[in-house]
Amino acid sequence: MTENDAIGKSTYFLDAESPVEMARLINLDLITTQAMGGPLVGVDNPSRLRNVLDLGCGPGGWVLSVAFAQPTAEVEGVDISRIMVDYANSRAHTQQLLNASFGVMDITQPLDFPDASFDLVNARFLVGVLPATRWPGFIAECTRVLRPGGTIRLTEMIDAGVSSSPAFEELQSFLYRSFQRAGYGFSADGRTLGITHILPSFLRKAGYQNTRRLAHTLEFSMHTDGWMDFYRNAEMGYKLSQAFFAKAGIATQEEAEKFYQQMLIDMHSDDFCGMWHYVTFLGTKPK
Ligand SMILES: C[S@@+](CC[C@H](N)C(=O)[O-])C[C@H]1O[C@@H](n2cnc3c(N)ncnc32)[C@H](O)[C@@H]1O
Repeated sequence: MTENDAIGKSTYFLDAESPVEMARLINLDLITTQAMGGPLVGVDNPSRLRNVLDLGCGPGGWVLSVAFAQPTAEVEGVDISRIMVDYANSRAHTQQLLNASFGVMDITQPLDFPDASFDLVNARFLVGVLPATRWPGFIAECTRVLRPGGTIRLTEMIDAGVSSSPAFEELQSFLYRSFQRAGYGFSADGRTLGITHILPSFLRKAGYQNTRRLAHTLEFSMHTDGWMDFYRNAEMGYKLSQAFFAKAGIATQEEAEKFYQQMLIDMHSDDFCGMWHYVTFLGTKPK
C-alpha cells in the first residue's frame, strides 16, 4: 500500500492531517506522560531496551522522551499522518536524538516490520483509531513483531474526564455514543468509552504472561496545575469532534456548539472540578 492509499484509508475519528489536532496531541502528550510519572513507567529494566516501537505515535512526544531517557535504544514511531511524522522527525533532528525515527504506516494493516524485532511495543490512546473488530488483529501484530520476553504496553482512557460541568458531561456523552455507533470501543450501552475493561482479556487470550496494569489520574479542577493544559485539550478536541458527532447522527453541529460554548464558560468557573482517569496495561511475550 502506498502512503497516499494509507492516508486515504484512515479510520481515525478525527482528521489525522489537521494542524489543530497535531497541536492538541503535542499538548496532551506532555500532560499525560507527566501525570503517569514518565514514559516508561511499568517497564522493567528500561536500560536493557534495544529496539522500541510506538504505534500511532502522533507528533512523537513519547518516542522522543524514551529516546532521550534511553540513549542506547533505537526508538521508532509510526503514524498514518504525514504532518505528524514530518513534525516528529524535525523534532528528533533539532533535539539531536539520532536514536529516534518516524515513518508513515497504517497500523490497521499488517505491520511493515519483521517478526521478533522489538523489545517493547507501545501504543497509547487508540480507542478512536482502531474499530473494535480490529483490536484482536492489532494485538496479534504487536505480538508478532515483539521478541520472546518482550513487553507490550497499551495505555487507554477510562473516560475523557469527569467534571462538575453539565455541558462537559453532555459532550462526553456525545463522544461515547458516537464511538459506540461508529464501531469504536466495546461499550455495552454507549455510556462509557468501553476499552479498558476488555484489554486485559485480550492480552491473556494472546498468550501474554505477567499481565499487569497501572492506573493514572490527572486533576484539571480550576486553580490546579492541570487546568490550563486540559482546558486547551478540551477546547481543541471538542471543536474538532463536532463533525464526528454529526456524522454519527448523535448531535448536530449546532447542538454540539451550544454545549461546547457552555463548557468553555463552566471550565472558567472558580469552583469547576474535574478528574481524568486512564490505565496502562503491560504483558510479557512468552520466551
Ligand atoms: C489519539 S492520537 C494518539 C497519539 C499518541 N499515541 C499519543 O498518545 O500522544 C491517535 C493517533 O493515531 C494516528 N492514526 C490514526 N489512524 C491511524 C492508522 N490507521 N495508522 C496509524 N496511525 C493512525 C493519528 O494520526 C493520531 O496521531
